[in-house]
Amino acid sequence: MDIRLDKYISDFTELTRSEAKKAIRDGRVRVNGETARKPNAKLSFSDSVFMGEEEVVGERYQYIMFNKPAGVVSATVDRDETTVVEYVRSRSPRHLAKDLFPMGRLDKDTRGLLVLTNDGDMAHRLLSPARHVPKKYYVVLDVEINSTDVEQMRSGLDIGEKHLTKPAHMEIISGNECFLTITEGKYHQIKRMFRCLGKTVVGLKRVEMAGLKLDESLAEGEWRFLTEEEIEYLKTL
Ligand code: URA
Repeated sequence: MDIRLDKYISDFTELTRSEAKKAIRDGRVRVNGETARKPNAKLSFSDSVFMGEEEVVGERYQYIMFNKPAGVVSATVDRDETTVVEYVRSRSPRHLAKDLFPMGRLDKDTRGLLVLTNDGDMAHRLLSPARHVPKKYYVVLDVEINSTDVEQMRSGLDIGEKHLTKPAHMEIISGNECFLTITEGKYHQIKRMFRCLGKTVVGLKRVEMAGLKLDESLAEGEWRFLTEEEIEYLKTL
């Protein structure tokens, strides 16, 4: 048994917890075809729940695509800063899972694709360093980039770690802009890689992770739930 009925109703409808309790006591909620009158009854996510004529569909896990703005930190709680989880929660019209966390990290000043979830298994699989999940970034530098940089990114750089960086794929867009795809996630990795080439990152935005593309219709600071296809896709990885 996964969740209390009153919590289920308040999590997956517009009702508050006390309104959910009242709806249950008033006999408006049916579980597997039977009227349920106990707010504290336990149910699992496979049970069928109806409120009036409407099915109340709940999901065990939530998966959110967030277009992270600069200025928020990739954490669940922080003493001083606004976290991505707080940011998304405060802008959500509906209840979000209590145990959401960001799947991976972006620096405070980095923008773009961040997935939030409460599916620990998926996060564990995708974040495992052994997996070498590709992450693609749009990068703006302080100066022009050239084909030597592309080659050096490919052959690996000494950023002060035990090993050289793994081959990174760089596509020059114009003078000082490029896409860079890396398969690791060391602290400040891209900034440190460009530092090695004597260049400074002045803008960084993640546009893709593990083949999942940032939805271009999401403005900075906006989010949406992943689609069924996107979730299924991530589960196949
Ligand atoms: N590399 C960085 O330097 N910062 C990020 O946020 C992500 C990759």
